[in-house]
Amino acid sequence: MTASNLPVDPFDLVIFGGTGDLAMRKLLPALLHRFHAGQVPPSSRIIGVAREPLGDEGYRNHLREVLGQHGDSTVLEAFLQQVSYRPLDARKDEGWDEFAALIKQQAGHVRVFYLSTSPQLFVDICTRLGAHALNLGEARVVLEKPIGRDLASARGINDAVGRFFSESQTYRIDHYLGKETVQNLLVLRFGNALFEPLWNSAHIEHVQITVAETVGVGHRAGYYDHAGAMRDMLQNHILQLLCMVAMEPPASLAPDAVRDEKLKVLNALKPIDESNASELTVRGQYRAGVAEGASVPGYPDELGNTRSQTETFVALKAEIGNWRWAGVPFYLRTGKRLPERVSEIAVTFKPVPHSIFASNAGKLLQNRLVLRLQPDEGVKLWLTIKDPGPGGLRLRHVPLDMSFAEEFGVQQPDAYERLLLDVVRGNPTLFMRRDEVEAAWRWADPILEAWDASGEPPRPYFAGSWGPSAAVALIERDGRTWHEDHA
Ligand code: BG6
Repeated sequence: MTASNLPVDPFDLVIFGGTGDLAMRKLLPALLHRFHAGQVPPSSRIIGVAREPLGDEGYRNHLREVLGQHGDSTVLEAFLQQVSYRPLDARKDEGWDEFAALIKQQAGHVRVFYLSTSPQLFVDICTRLGAHALNLGEARVVLEKPIGRDLASARGINDAVGRFFSESQTYRIDHYLGKETVQNLLVLRFGNALFEPLWNSAHIEHVQITVAETVGVGHRAGYYDHAGAMRDMLQNHILQLLCMVAMEPPASLAPDAVRDEKLKVLNALKPIDESNASELTVRGQYRAGVAEGASVPGYPDELGNTRSQTETFVALKAEIGNWRWAGVPFYLRTGKRLPERVSEIAVTFKPVPHSIFASNAGKLLQNRLVLRLQPDEGVKLWLTIKDPGPGGLRLRHVPLDMSFAEEFGVQQPDAYERLLLDVVRGNPTLFMRRDEVEAAWRWADPILEAWDASGEPPRPYFAGSWGPSAAVALIERDGRTWHEDHA
């Protein structure tokens, strides 16, 4: 089966931070794939911008190396004809007049300015775009997360960007919202009559959201040490997943209908602060160990700073204080250098009220709906059935298994492919609105402050393990275990 593609209008996409890690690993491969699928109209231009003094050909050569593995060289060469480069410094005037003239050559194009830079440059870049009137008309700005490092700095960025780009022109990207399974969660919940009546504290016992990575921080240590797992993953990706699981049914898929409901969830999260952070949160930092079959150094060695208190792992127990979810724990965890790369949402239903089966029939396990974001996107619904065949009535726990790749034979586009085209089309449904980002910080800030105030370093864990033992204790205290059966 082949996926059908919606057409897009001709566009200019400018990537600030055009030589950076995100541009090379995600944005340019995503654009190449969309080009291959015929979704980059011929007059569209992709312009990398960074401080390095490169020319168009120098940039293209670099891309030839980086994108070489992404398919056919004829396609790559055709794609590169639509790619160019401008050396610019966001903090200096030099070159901006010429850059503005270049952009204005295509007055009818949708203009997308993707700020894949440190947030400290957002204000300078937007000020210069505004000074050259590049923010007018069909212009959009894309902001990469994390937006700031706390509520105050996020507000500062939002105010500053907001002076030049209206909210409807501002696309705060959280690429987890572009993942296939996350969108499928909307369809599963609201396209089936089966789940919604059960989707509440009367029937759901608890929810787990895990985003585990095997990679360490590697060459991103400079950025990462100022962020940590809370700011890098939990405040954004994981909270967005939580919102999609927990929100009330929106009246439609209109961007604000969905975002209004997500905002209500964020605002209903019960506070975690100095009074309860040590009981409800665990933070960890990896030490040397074995990951992906090789010995790897610990975080302090990778960073070259043994005193860093930055967490590379966080697990916590959150609760949503509203009628639907009161009393249902949401266990959230994420970390680097864990044993597997797996992102999953596991929804565990309550046990049946009474068992009619003999005690030797086997254990009656609870139903669980597992939405796997990666790898092998898909959905499993764990049910209890009779073990087939003779020999008495024995219970068996088996998944109704729907692996998207196997079932539909479609190679899922990367989240960035979908989201970049959504920006061009002007569809902000899968982007974070200002008030969402700020509500997420409002909840995260007291946790970060409690950690700072405690003065306790993150707990060490071996690379290749599932984090500090305290994370296991966090859930076991409630008589539960982390969902690790990925069979
Ligand atoms: C990014 C984080 O937003 O998401 C990275 O900054 C992380 O630290 C990445 O590795 C994970 O994304 P994915 O799509 O590979 O799960």
